[in-house]
Amino acid sequence: MKILITGGSGLLGQYLNLELSKYHEILTLYNHLQRNCKDFNSLQVDICNIENLSQIFSSFTPNVVVHTAAVSTPQRADAVPTKTVYKTNVTATENLAKLCERFNAKLIYTSTDLVYAGYRGSLLTEDAKLIPISLYAETKLMGEEKIKSTFDNYIILRTALMFGFGLNGSSCFFHQMYDKIKSGEKVRLFYDQFRSPLSVLEAARTIKFLCESDIKTEIINFGGPERLSRYELGLMLCKSTGFEENLLDKISIFDIPDLPHVADVSMNVERLKSFGVILKSTKDSLKEVLVSKR
Ligand SMILES: NC(=O)c1ccc[n+]([C@@H]2O[C@H](COP(=O)([O-])OP(=O)(O)OC[C@H]3O[C@@H](n4cnc5c(N)ncnc54)[C@H](OP(=O)(O)O)[C@@H]3O)[C@@H](O)[C@H]2O)c1
Repeated sequence: MKILITGGSGLLGQYLNLELSKYHEILTLYNHLQRNCKDFNSLQVDICNIENLSQIFSSFTPNVVVHTAAVSTPQRADAVPTKTVYKTNVTATENLAKLCERFNAKLIYTSTDLVYAGYRGSLLTEDAKLIPISLYAETKLMGEEKIKSTFDNYIILRTALMFGFGLNGSSCFFHQMYDKIKSGEKVRLFYDQFRSPLSVLEAARTIKFLCESDIKTEIINFGGPERLSRYELGLMLCKSTGFEENLLDKISIFDIPDLPHVADVSMNVERLKSFGVILKSTKDSLKEVLVSKR
């Protein structure tokens, strides 16, 4: 299979490069930093440039496109011009969907759990109310809508908070938390925001499975099997590593005034499992992540 990856230098993208290249021919796209893309068939391209994307589709003719490139957090989206966020998260996603339709490729798109209303219960199913409250989440949802209105050969993955170790300088909250606790620094962690944390290793493996499957026209909650706060994940980390639990400072989402207050976007992952995906427990995923660091 020929698989085109966008966001190949990101947290998830680099794990996808490693996982998908074991079994398939890949072309991975990066923007500013090359990171592990240098070890693979890769190209530097701004996904907002439709001509460049068109040329890539013409020459590589992918069977599957895994689209992870994005202005990828609420904080980043608030720090760059709205136009840039829109162009990257919405227009480029629409262009990719149109190119996939033209070249008969399947599109796998990493949306976010933050599209859900964060105050309407726990373990939300895919048909739960969508009320994105950040520019980031709103544009990711618009990306979903553009895909759905273009064609039907897609899988939209409403992705949970991912945890793991960022490769080659990429990072995530878990990696930062690990480094701080390891060096004896205190970390402040929300006890009152709930997600369904998913290991980045599990995410890459599952995306490989989805690339190879016939599944299409699906919106799928893409999370781990448990509803947890960051504080609870921190406790799990301390228990697995022997790090000091008293370095974890419990804070509320309301302690950070400018943050969009999303209390609970934990997801029901039965649909994901119904396709044959077997998810490790969070504890086992955490162990796997810790072993991968050695
Ligand atoms: N990480 C999570 O916990 C999480 C949770 C839910 C959903 N998601 C979604 O999952 C996907 C991957 O997340 P991630 O954490 O791996 O993100 P990430 O580490 O921030 O990586 C995003 C990648 O997108 C690239 N990119 C941004 N703008 C681009 C442009 N104009 N042209 C080409 N590439 C561009 C970035 O390259 P440069 O840095 O060089 O610009 C980077 O390699 C994103 O779509 C995100 O919305 C992530």
